[in-house]
Amino acid sequence: MLPQNILRTCHVLVLVLCVSAIEDFDWTKNDHGSFYYGVFPTGFSWGAGGSAYQTEGAWNVDGKGMSIWDAFAHKKGKIFLNDTGDFSCEGYHKVKDDISLMKDMNLNHYRFSISWPRILPTGIKNENINEKGIKYYDDLINKLLENKITPIVTLYHWDLPQILEEKYGGWQNTSMVNLFNDFANLCFERFGNRVKHWITFNNPWSMAVEGYETGEHAPGLKLRGVGAYKTAHHIIKAHAKVWHTYDTQWRSKQKGLVGISLSGDWGEPVDITNQRDIEAAERYVQFYMGWFATPLFNGDYPQVMKDYIGRKSAQQGLGASRLPVFTAQEKSYIKGTCDFLGIGHFTTRYITQKNYPSGRGNSYFTDRDLAELVDPRWPDPGSEWLYSVPWGFRRLLNFVKTQYGNPMIYVTENGVSEKMMCTDLCDDWRMQYFKDYINEMLKAIKDGVNIKAYTAWSLLDKFEWDEGYSERFGLYYVDFRDKNKPRYPKASVHYYKSIISSNGFPNQRELESWKRKAIETCSSSNQLLAADPLISHMGMVTEIVVPTMCTLCILLSAVFLMFLLRRRF
Ligand code: NOJ
Repeated sequence: MLPQNILRTCHVLVLVLCVSAIEDFDWTKNDHGSFYYGVFPTGFSWGAGGSAYQTEGAWNVDGKGMSIWDAFAHKKGKIFLNDTGDFSCEGYHKVKDDISLMKDMNLNHYRFSISWPRILPTGIKNENINEKGIKYYDDLINKLLENKITPIVTLYHWDLPQILEEKYGGWQNTSMVNLFNDFANLCFERFGNRVKHWITFNNPWSMAVEGYETGEHAPGLKLRGVGAYKTAHHIIKAHAKVWHTYDTQWRSKQKGLVGISLSGDWGEPVDITNQRDIEAAERYVQFYMGWFATPLFNGDYPQVMKDYIGRKSAQQGLGASRLPVFTAQEKSYIKGTCDFLGIGHFTTRYITQKNYPSGRGNSYFTDRDLAELVDPRWPDPGSEWLYSVPWGFRRLLNFVKTQYGNPMIYVTENGVSEKMMCTDLCDDWRMQYFKDYINEMLKAIKDGVNIKAYTAWSLLDKFEWDEGYSERFGLYYVDFRDKNKPRYPKASVHYYKSIISSNGFPNQRELESWKRKAIETCSSSNQLLAADPLISHMGMVTEIVVPTMCTLCILLSAVFLMFLLRRRF
């Protein structure tokens, strides 16, 4: 134990020394660390988001089919505390309530996803269209528009129809490309007259790596070194096909945009003077966001992925690279299929070079030849992996600008969680996170990055995949113990609302007053929440105690009546 601790301390010391030696990239040189007062361009869109499986609940209601997440979460041992998204926030039944929360924050847009098995229970368009599922999304879209909130709709936020996993092996099978295209086409047909912003896939990195490489996510496959690459290959082709479908069949009528939402941590070299660390950090970002963005913008996988995976595959004696290859025709079909790039960003890592000899088994992680480190001074209020490093956000945004020709960017996810037991609605760590990250985004806009929208993640506390309900990302606290799933505003609701109403950060005095007011308001929400056990207790009284007492009274009266009758005769 002791040597380990000493090692750890040395490691941290080395890291801290290296960190202080690091110089900024040119575009941050002048104002690194300082807060930037200013406003966003007119028309900048502010929103919040969520996804179907994480919030809707109603997993088997109104004809919905099973998804891979329903099946995965129902297996014991897959999710923290064996929780499931069966009921989650009951968003399916609370459309009106949730829209009034959005309205109250003056959101310009709301990002949600459509559950494929809710509208196509068998996954296949020609087999069965579930009109009740369609109606649910119709109502949601209509109510958003009535309230002047733009819907930004994700077609796939990880909930593949289970039957497609069982029959075809899910995203391992190339037939998903056409099946997904049929589903997307149906969505364009039914909702496209009102929805103008489409996101094909949410965070395909996670789908590929966690779904088919490590198996932490549904469908839980551990196909190390091959599964993720194959999945990603089919996802990229499916995205391109859907973009072309929209382009040729719907764009002229519907005049919308089709993009994708990629997640990406920023990777900063541990030692900025060490060429090997610089290259390792670049590799980290290329294997993360570049894996998907480079084909979509430039037509093929990043050269560094082709080189590393190709070389390691050859060393393993394989006849071909584990990274699949696009044909020339596919490359030109895929290139340029992004009307906007969605970015989901939460955190940053320090990166250093580390060799993994290919003899010791292969995986996506060892293919990269690098190690990830964190600075122990970075705040980490919630999820184990989520350190608050605002400056990494600006760097990632600038990277996207230079690598992919300054595309139009929609920030589709950004936010922070808190630990499970935390019921404090005065979430100053989240206010700080939003303030600093949004400020870095503002600096990126000043750097010339073309950012059009920001989506706080997430509107509500919700099912957090394999972590169950133990990590709360919501602006609104959801009391999952109560079957009505009441929502309570955290202080960050008021803070975010102030940023929205000023369209940025006007001046220091105003910012301080926002924080003060937010804390005042959340104290009263805290009291409400504290009273909640009483509310649940009252619920129990009306639902269990009262009917039981009534039944008892009726029984007793019957016994008494029988007794009286017996005495008379
Ligand atoms: C990215 C995922 O898209 C989202 O569903 C999740 O809630 C966040 N990461 C936070 O873990």
